[in-house]
Amino acid sequence: MKINHAFIIVGIFLATSGFAQTTLKEAFKNDFLIGAALNETQFSGGKAAEAALVRTQFNTISPENVLKWEPIHPKSDQYNFGPADQYVEFGQKNGLFIVGHTLVWHQQTPKWVFQDARGKPLDRDTLLARMREHIFTVVGRYQGKIGGWDVVNEALNDDGTLRESPWEKIIGEDYLLKAYQFAHEADPQAQLYYNDFSLENAPKREGAIALVKKLQAAGIPIAGVGLQGHYNMDWPTPAQLDETIAAFSPLGVKVMITELDLNMLPAATQSQAAEVSMNFALRAELNPYTNGLPAVVQQQLAQRYADLFAVLVKHHDVVSRVTFWGVTDGDSWLNNWPVKGRTAYPLLFDRNRQPKPAFNAVIQTSRLPQTPQKPR
Ligand code: G3I
Repeated sequence: MKINHAFIIVGIFLATSGFAQTTLKEAFKNDFLIGAALNETQFSGGKAAEAALVRTQFNTISPENVLKWEPIHPKSDQYNFGPADQYVEFGQKNGLFIVGHTLVWHQQTPKWVFQDARGKPLDRDTLLARMREHIFTVVGRYQGKIGGWDVVNEALNDDGTLRESPWEKIIGEDYLLKAYQFAHEADPQAQLYYNDFSLENAPKREGAIALVKKLQAAGIPIAGVGLQGHYNMDWPTPAQLDETIAAFSPLGVKVMITELDLNMLPAATQSQAAEVSMNFALRAELNPYTNGLPAVVQQQLAQRYADLFAVLVKHHDVVSRVTFWGVTDGDSWLNNWPVKGRTAYPLLFDRNRQPKPAFNAVIQTSRLPQTPQKPR
């Protein structure tokens, strides 16, 4: 869908004129849930204005970090539930669909998890017991409050094979099956998801489809597949996204965009992977927009978001949720990845929590009739 310049001008006018605008959750209420990943300052009362933006625009939240193994279970005999309790409380108080991210991952999992007291690798049964205890403790604590869990995150290589990890090495390939079995036992009502990046690339997508089929064959009620959505300005194409959603649909699972952001900064690497371990030195040419995003790039971002959302709206019967990985540009992990200290603009709200032209372009893809309201 070509958005013409008029839309941008209207968008900027609406953004600055105080006309009450359709919110994201209102615009897509008949299509899918729409939300954002929150960091601690946003649900702990630290950033009240951003919390207000979340309440106004979104109907679902995800935890950027507080439910990961490292922050919530730093030592074998120590859980740190404070921040996660606040996250869940914020979600409940505001009637939001609360997502849990993530129970089993190769990143942000402390070394002690895989070692015995002498620092030697654990055996299969001991690590399975540790995984089970962690899942029952965390999922059990938020039973009936957290609606869906990214049970396993990023378990596949780009060619669709199983990623090497301490989980796979010590337990074996069935560590995934075990993780889903434990999560289902811990909260039979919670939706269970598989979450990964670059599933828009065919080899990896085929691997994920085979994984879902394997879990289903083992009786695991997997509810959805999460496409993380760490996209850039030319990958994936709308056709690739369309094809990907269509490929998962026959499996009877929902598709969610779980960590959406659009990186338009110069690439520090050719890789499309969202491997958090990547880190490149800051160079001026990699950080061209320190004084704001030029209007022409704002327009390109708006068009890109509109093209992707048009595909998501087309598949509103399969796409159940779209979550942005952060609330405003200032919060985004892309300010420090894969190059620390850059000025990124990947989301719909700027550093002053103001809607960007991309916000209006996204709203325009809604199937709801657009009627600008009278100024209050
Ligand atoms: O909380 C500690 C703090 O105590 C310490 O002083 C500070 C300095 O090292 O680190 C803080 O932890 C950081 C944490 O974010 C909270 O800010 C970790 O170092 C840092 O690695 C972590 O980064 C997160 C990253 O996952 C790590 O895995 C990013 O915020 C988060 O956006 C990112 O999210 C991942 C998804 O979970 C999975 N998909 C990719 C996505 C982007 O990488």
